Amino acid sequence: MENNPVKSGSVCWRSPSNIALVKYWGKYGRQYPKNPSISFTLSHAYTETKIDWEYIDEPQEEIALYFRFESKEKPAFAEKIRKYLKSISDIFPLISNLKLSIDSHNSFPHSSGIASSASSMSALAMCLLDIDRQINSEENIDLQKASVLARLGSGSASRSVFPKLAIWGQHNSIQDTSQDYAIPYHESIDDLFLNFHDDILIISDKEKSVSSRAGHALMDNNPYGQTRFDQAHNHLTAIIDAMQKGDIASFGAIVEKEALTLHALMMASDPPYLLIEPNTVEAIKIIQSYRQEKNIPVYFTLDAGPNIHLLYPHHYVEEVKVLKSKLRPLCANGLIIDDRVGNGPTKIN
Ligand code: PMV
Repeated sequence: MENNPVKSGSVCWRSPSNIALVKYWGKYGRQYPKNPSISFTLSHAYTETKIDWEYIDEPQEEIALYFRFESKEKPAFAEKIRKYLKSISDIFPLISNLKLSIDSHNSFPHSSGIASSASSMSALAMCLLDIDRQINSEENIDLQKASVLARLGSGSASRSVFPKLAIWGQHNSIQDTSQDYAIPYHESIDDLFLNFHDDILIISDKEKSVSSRAGHALMDNNPYGQTRFDQAHNHLTAIIDAMQKGDIASFGAIVEKEALTLHALMMASDPPYLLIEPNTVEAIKIIQSYRQEKNIPVYFTLDAGPNIHLLYPHHYVEEVKVLKSKLRPLCANGLIIDDRVGNGPTKIN
């Protein structure tokens, strides 16, 4: 640092959310997954984070942080970020020498029931590593490091730093997979899947009744836990095989099984949770019968809440518009967020 003139600066990154096809549900230790997962990186649902930073020569005990969300101070969010930044000081010691002023906002409405942890934590990780890069006059950001930092904020965020498709968690027959970080995984995949759409049906815009942290913890004593973790390994092998062959029917069958299994696991937890709404079930039935009647490869998945992700290849956009007009009345304020597979974080100048 002594010979380096860069003592302050500004960085801004936009990072997308992602949707898991094989779900991560259950964790241990320092945010390690109990099973490997795979997700599509999205495009339109993103967080944009800007950090004005200053280098302080004397390392600080307390993190020097000023945080705003959508231009407003949010003490609860700020506290979470402060805790996170403190928690990474062993692997990112530079944090103790930084004074940060953070401004963040999402592309989607805050009260849409869409979890923003993957997009926000990956945007923050990209910003932190960009500051490190500026201080050390390096050319590029190491995305593997970004994935580790993002993971420590929110497990699923580890996957958002890569374009299109990413796998997080160790799988014995998939090379280079790791518990520590996600890896990009689109090279061998049929193009059909790399242009997929993911339209998010906002069935309820209320906050979830169980946090994902509490949900993961419930897997520790879930009677179906080990069976589930084994199933996820098998599903990952099978879905990759289907995506390499362009086998959309097998892909869809696994994706829907994963979504319903996630909710079945929650219903079988102690205490049990029911996070889907009557309109979730209604929408699923409409999607399944539309698929059968029209012979259109449109499938659903769910996150840990009532909202539905509608997955389909690009060349069925017109046909799916008709389906969406049937589904819209089931959505809160008729809200559907049209998204699709995207290219990962981008730097904003
Ligand atoms: O990253 P977390 O702790 O918010 O957990 C995400 C869990 C799911 O979204 C349900 C599944 C996944 O793999 O993203």
